[in-house]
Formats: sequence, C-alpha cells, structure tokens
Amino acid sequence: MPLTERHVAPSILSADFADLAAKVREVMDAGARVIHCDVMDGHFVPPITFGPMVVAALRESLPDEAYLDVHLMIERPERHVAEFAKAGADGITIHAEATPNIAFTLSAIREAGCKAGLVVSPGTPPDHFGENEIDLALIMTVNPGWGGQPFLRNQLHKIRRVRAMLGDAMPIEVDGGVNPRTAAECAQAGATWFVAGSAIFGSADPAAAFREIAAAAGC
Ligand code: DX5
Ligand code: ZN
Repeated sequence: MPLTERHVAPSILSADFADLAAKVREVMDAGARVIHCDVMDGHFVPPITFGPMVVAALRESLPDEAYLDVHLMIERPERHVAEFAKAGADGITIHAEATPNIAFTLSAIREAGCKAGLVVSPGTPPDHFGENEIDLALIMTVNPGWGGQPFLRNQLHKIRRVRAMLGDAMPIEVDGGVNPRTAAECAQAGATWFVAGSAIFGSADPAAAFREIAAAAGC
C-alpha cells in the first residue's frame, strides 16, 4: 500500500476488545485500510493496553489489505520491534522521547520489513523528523495515553512546520482528538493520515463516522 495516499486510521483503543475483529471489519467494510494499534506499557504512559499477541491475532483474523499501523507508546522500543514485526505489523512508529537510540531503532524496524515511523508528543520539538530516516511522521495532537481527549489546537502550527520541513511526499499522521472538524483543520495544515478512536468506535454508527471523517479530511 502506498503510504502517500490519504487515510483515516481507526484506532482500536476505543473499540470493544471482546469483539475486536468484528469491529475492525465493520470499518474496513466502510473503506478503512489503515488500522491503528496503540501499544502502552504502563511506563512510557500510565495505561497498559496489549502487546504482540493481540497484534498477531488481529493480523490472522483480518483481510490481507488491512495495514496494521502499530503505535508503540513504550520505553526502549528497540527491545520489542522484532516481536511486533513478527506479529504482522506493517508499520511501527516509535516515540522520540522513549529511547536514546532513535536511528538504531528505526533501522531495526526497516530491517524487520516494516515501515518506520517516528512520533513526537505535543511538548517535543519536531526537529527529530529532519534528523532521521523515516517513512512516516506522526504528530500527537493530544498527550499520549488515553483516547477521548480534546484536540490540542496549538499542534496545528507544528503540522504546518513539519509539512514545510519534510516536503510533499512524506506521510504526516495526526493522532488524538480527531473528528470531522479537527480532521479538516489538520488536512489544511498538511496532514495526510488521520487517526480517530473515540470519534469512530465511540459512535453509534462507526461506519458512518469513518466516512464522515474521511470526507472532511479529503480522503
Ligand atoms: C492516544 C492514542 C490514540 C487514541 C486516540 O495516546 O495514541 O491513538 O486512540 O483516541 P481519540 O481519537 O479518542 O483521541
Ligand atoms: Zn495512537
């Protein structure tokens, strides 16, 4: 799948974990291709979510065209990227704040056959993107750790700055507080991938919510 296409990526964090595959299939039927998986370790962020076993189970139960976009909110991700690649991740994104070995970890992701993403939290300057070999830049538009937080408008400036810094071809993903209104603002600022959790899986009609965000984002 070319990363240069625009995508809304439903985040499974807000889905029913007891019925995960069915919930994901529902949004895939509505056109979703990128499925965002939030891995949290209880250290980098307070909550604990899931690890490679759940990613592998999802991979097994989803059609091949699902692109598993694995967002690692974990300390020292270099210790775990091989496991997530083996579990079937298509892309793995690591936090610049989570390791002193950013370049090493990004190349380990590529060597494992995955696309390498780098993410910065709202308080982190975006210079890391220009200093590393990346396939995708993720800009957090909430502080990482929880779904359902309000969109941080002060990150719009960062999106514009990163688009100018990285040029037109680089996929820029935004994550946190994305709904039809904020997706349109992020798209205008230069984002091309839009993660949405509660706005999709918290809705009574996730397929309709997906389509509404996709339309607003110009997908
Ligand atoms: C938060 C996660 C997000 C989360 C977004 O740390 O990285 O992917 O699921 O949730 P919403 O869309 O509800 O803000
Ligand atoms: Zn995420």
